[in-house]
Amino acid sequence: KKSEAWSALFSEPMSELVKRYTASVFFDKRLWQADIAGSLAHAEMLAAQGIIGPSDHADIQRGMAQITQEIESGAFEWKLDLEDVHLNIEARLTQLVGDAGKRLHTGRSRNDQVATDVRLWLRGEIDLIGGLLTELQRALVEVAEKNVEVILPGFTHLQVAQPVSFAHHLLAYVEMFSRDAERFADVRRRTNRLPLGSAALAGTTYPLDRERVARTLGMVDEHGAPAVCQNSLDGVSDRDFAIEFTAAASLCMVHISRLSEELILWMSQNFGFVKIADRFTTGSSIMPQKKNPDVPELARGKTGRVVGHLMGLITLMKGQPLAYNKDNQEDKEPLFDTVDTLTDTLRIFAEMVGGQLNPATGAKEGGLTVNAPAMEAAAQKGYATATDLADYLVKKGLPFRDAHETVAHAVKAATSHNCDLSELPLTVLQGFHPSIEKDVYEVLSLRGSLSARHTLGGTAPAQVRAQIARHRARLG
Ligand code: ARG
Repeated sequence: KKSEAWSALFSEPMSELVKRYTASVFFDKRLWQADIAGSLAHAEMLAAQGIIGPSDHADIQRGMAQITQEIESGAFEWKLDLEDVHLNIEARLTQLVGDAGKRLHTGRSRNDQVATDVRLWLRGEIDLIGGLLTELQRALVEVAEKNVEVILPGFTHLQVAQPVSFAHHLLAYVEMFSRDAERFADVRRRTNRLPLGSAALAGTTYPLDRERVARTLGMVDEHGAPAVCQNSLDGVSDRDFAIEFTAAASLCMVHISRLSEELILWMSQNFGFVKIADRFTTGSSIMPQKKNPDVPELARGKTGRVVGHLMGLITLMKGQPLAYNKDNQEDKEPLFDTVDTLTDTLRIFAEMVGGQLNPATGAKEGGLTVNAPAMEAAAQKGYATATDLADYLVKKGLPFRDAHETVAHAVKAATSHNCDLSELPLTVLQGFHPSIEKDVYEVLSLRGSLSARHTLGGTAPAQVRAQIARHRARLG
């Protein structure tokens, strides 16, 4: 049996293997809603332009309503023989309404159809991701709010550097995720443009009103003007939006992965800074004492998978001549998997960090548990306030480089006595520099160090609270 969409020219049927190799219906059927929405907008315009009659238009609407119902109920029979989502739906339409179904494809090609479908579908997913990013940021801000005064050893090179507010550390991730949200919003602008009307590659001989279709599908720019791909060759072959999206998703996953790495580290017995709820961990089949941070580990691992999809998509494009090539059918699985991986990850992280709402109490439960004493004890260990002592000496008139040198000697002495700088007696400290006075102990304290850093963006509790207020207002 020959394919129904293009029978006449072909003298032999496809083998089963080639059919399976070329078909995409088993993954692209996911685009069915976008496909029907695109078809309905196209049909409405064909009727408005007098290219099809009003009764054909009505038949198409009726047929599509039934197909929608069949797909939703699971009654729709997807056929491998019909290759992809587009031909499956069109064939069923024709079965249901006859000639009107055959008129739907007037002035259209699967090339502009599929490009439109992917854009419509991705636009919806981008909106969903925007909401999930807001949820995750809110969860981080909520935990931050409760931990402004909790002191964490800030690291550089994973060596204790300077004390920071734990809230300040969490808000660094809020900054990353807010940039991710900006990037997705920007990708959305270039995704939300209409290829339909490009037809196969060169445009079409029918008097299509592309701007009307764009408006119907909500493909408008920030001023509400219809957003239409302006070159038909580009319209059918541009997958930049998918690549950009996957790049933005990769970067977002990289942020998740860095957070995961920190959670894993902080949960290890050697740190003991935080706990995540048991439902995000698993035990070991051999070691009875184990509670492993599987969720953050998997998120770190899945980041590689999403970055892989970015490489896959960008490589898919690199050798393609204009205009459409079947290579592009390979854009879907990486794109779908990127969306699934990212949305699942964002959902899980919002809950793992922020907890779950208990409807009985109205409070969130089971989020991140913070071990403030462990963090503070760790900050107390690594001479985290050495820079503060150097700054103290600078304020007494020493050039910074000399102060740095002086404090290095003090740290060396404290190390040999196995104590903190703040535990050295005043007379000993004065041995390093006579200008040191009793007020140095406030400077050497973790809290003194924190509150001294009150420049914009610094870790002083007052600054951190101002940032929390800003995020609260921004996130609603
Ligand atoms: N299934 C195809 C895809 O995903 C639809 C477009 C096919 N067009 C064509 N001329 N073969 O890209």
